[in-house]
Amino acid sequence: MQQKITKAVIPAAGLGTRFLPATKAMPKEMMPIVDKPAIQYIIEEAVASGITDILIITGRGKRAIEDHFDRSYELEAELQKKGNADIIRELNRISSLASIHYIRQGKPLGLGHAILKAREHVGNEPFAVFLGDDLVKSEEPCMKKMMEIFSRTGFPVVAVSPVEKSEIPKYGIVKARQEGSELIIEDMVEKPAAEKAPSNLAILGRYILTPDIFGILEKTKPGANGEINLTDALRTLGRKKKIYGYRVEGKWMTVGDRMSYLKTVVEYALDRKDVGPEFLSYLRQRIK
Ligand code: G1P
Repeated sequence: MQQKITKAVIPAAGLGTRFLPATKAMPKEMMPIVDKPAIQYIIEEAVASGITDILIITGRGKRAIEDHFDRSYELEAELQKKGNADIIRELNRISSLASIHYIRQGKPLGLGHAILKAREHVGNEPFAVFLGDDLVKSEEPCMKKMMEIFSRTGFPVVAVSPVEKSEIPKYGIVKARQEGSELIIEDMVEKPAAEKAPSNLAILGRYILTPDIFGILEKTKPGANGEINLTDALRTLGRKKKIYGYRVEGKWMTVGDRMSYLKTVVEYALDRKDVGPEFLSYLRQRIK
């Protein structure tokens, strides 16, 4: 039986330059998908997978994230006066989702550098990583399925999903082989040219890491985009131990750029019981 994973790390220090001007004064993690910020979907997935402790790596201008997961007594008092008990319950639910901690990244030196900031908090335990741009819509939470692989094997797990050739240079791409029912990651490369990529299987923002990653991250030199990449550190780790892949079931949606964001909003909106049907008939009218 492997150690249970209770801690998650969410890097959220990026500047969100692809969403300016919206992100000039608001963190991109707070971009709403219908009426919930993107990061809340991620934290809900973490909690539904059994995570109880979350460390968010933030930076300048990210105060709104802390405020969102905190109690807002003024707002509650105001809603109380108006008799909005349901909304108060929902707000309290959000602030009690998990024990959430914050640390600042300081210099934005890349995803690998952000993860390294979690070292003290995580200690000597395996932990989960969720990237703020990636949402996974599935019946069972994606991270829960990854935890099943970890508890069976005790090795790091990376979530992967196929992408179009034109999308390959945006992602970490893996070389993998099937071993019975398990997917074994043999190698990986960060943001390769499509012609040089080892496959079309992209790493998406869900990882289960073992604490030996920290020592490797410390020694990892800047790679693609001049950043310290988690993919490069995992590649080194993969030479020492097995890394398993999890083929994502369900829909991988991203909020990393405008077009994907729009698609994600439509996808979530159409599935909502309260606004979905009316929104669908509006869209039908609109494209007539
Ligand atoms: C990061 C990772 C990359 C991964 C991607 C998933 O890239 O470095 O390996 O495929 O997230 O969203 P970023 O989106 O930060 O450029």
